[in-house]
Amino acid sequence: MQTRQLGQSDLYISPLGFGTWATGGGNWEYGWGAQDDRDSIAAIAAAADAGINWIDTAAAYGLGHAETVVGRALRTLPADRRPYVFTKGSLVWDAQGRISHSLDPASLSREIDESLRRLNVEAIDLYQIHWPAFPPGAPEQSIEAAIAALADAQRAGKIRHIGVSNFDAAQMERARSVAPIASLQPPYSLLMRGIEESILPYTAAHGIGNIVYSPLQSGLLSGRMTRERIAALPADDWRAQRSPEFQEPNLTRNLALVEVLRGVGARHGRTPAEVAIAWTLRNPVVTGAIVGVRRPDQLDGLLGAASLKLTDADLAEIDAARPETTASPVPQSLVNA
Ligand SMILES: NC(=O)c1ccc[n+]([C@@H]2O[C@H](COP(=O)([O-])OP(=O)(O)OC[C@H]3O[C@@H](n4cnc5c(N)ncnc54)[C@H](OP(=O)(O)O)[C@@H]3O)[C@@H](O)[C@H]2O)c1
Repeated sequence: MQTRQLGQSDLYISPLGFGTWATGGGNWEYGWGAQDDRDSIAAIAAAADAGINWIDTAAAYGLGHAETVVGRALRTLPADRRPYVFTKGSLVWDAQGRISHSLDPASLSREIDESLRRLNVEAIDLYQIHWPAFPPGAPEQSIEAAIAALADAQRAGKIRHIGVSNFDAAQMERARSVAPIASLQPPYSLLMRGIEESILPYTAAHGIGNIVYSPLQSGLLSGRMTRERIAALPADDWRAQRSPEFQEPNLTRNLALVEVLRGVGARHGRTPAEVAIAWTLRNPVVTGAIVGVRRPDQLDGLLGAASLKLTDADLAEIDAARPETTASPVPQSLVNA
C-alpha cells in the first residue's frame, strides 16, 4: 500500500488506518456490543500483513481495554511489521466507569504513562487530545496547558508527535501557539461533511495532516447494514439506540445512498464500503481514513478503497444521491447533554 506523509511529521502512513473503538467491547457506556479479543488480535495481524501501517486507539475505548488488546496484538507481530500506534487521551473514567473530560496537565501526563503501560510500547507515535471539550459544547478548559503537557511528554521521549481530534480552526490555532501539531482527527463521511468549510482549509494552510474517522458512518454505509440487522443490534451497541442515522426517517434515505454506492462500486469491482472510504480519500487534504475493523474477513471488503480512484462521473452520481445533512459523529445523547 502506498504511504503518505502525515502533516510535516516523519510518519508515512497507509491510506487506511485500523480503528479500535469497537475493540473496546460492549461493557461500557459507549460500547459496540460484545467483541471477541481473539478476533480483534487476528484482525490487527491481518491488517498489518495487508500493509495497513497504523492503528488508532484511545484510552477511553472499553475503559482501557482496546489499548490492552492492541498491546497484546503488537507483541505477536515481528518488529518489521509493527504498525505505528496512535492513541488519544482527555476522556477519563471513575471507579463506576463514568466518563468525564480533563485537560488538566497532571491528568494528561498520568494518562500517557497508563497508555504506555497498556500498549506496552516505549513511545507512542502520535498522542492526540481526544476532545477539546466533552460533551461537545461543554465549557472549555485550557488547550494551551494541555498541549504544554504533551510537549513535555514529547521532550521526555514518551510520545513522538502531538495530534488533536474534534478541534475546530480556532482551537487548532491555540494548540499551535504552544507546539507543532502533526495532525487533526475529525469526523468525515458522506453524511458528515461539516469540516469542509473551514476546518480542512485551515489544516491545508498550516501543513496539518488529517486522519478522518467514521468514513462508513459507523458501519451504516458498509453495504451490509440492513433494517433487520439494525433491529437485532444488542442493547449495548450505541448505534441501535442513540444514532438517528440508524433510525427512521433518516434510515430509508441513508440505505438508498448505499444502493448508489453499490452501483458505483460494481463498475469498479469494489464494495459500497470501499466507495464510501475512497470518497473521503479523494480529497488530497485527507491523509488517511480510520476504519473500524472487528474481524479479519471484514478487511476483504475494505482494502480496495486504498487504490480506488473515483471518476468525475462517479462523484457526480454520488453527490446527487447524497442527502443534505450533517450527521453527528457521537451518540445523540451527548450532543443534547
Ligand atoms: N476521535 C474520535 O472522537 C472518534 C470518534 C469515532 C471513531 N473514531 C475512530 O475511528 C474509527 C472508525 O470509526 P467507526 O469505528 O466509528 O466507524 P466506521 O469505520 O465508519 O465503521 C466501522 C464499522 O463498519 C463495519 N464494517 C467494517 N468493515 C466492514 C465490511 N467489510 N463489511 C461490512 N461492515 C463492515 C463494522 O461494524 P459491524 O461489524 O458492527 O457491522 C465496523 O465496526 C474508530 O474505530 C476509532 O478508532 C474516533
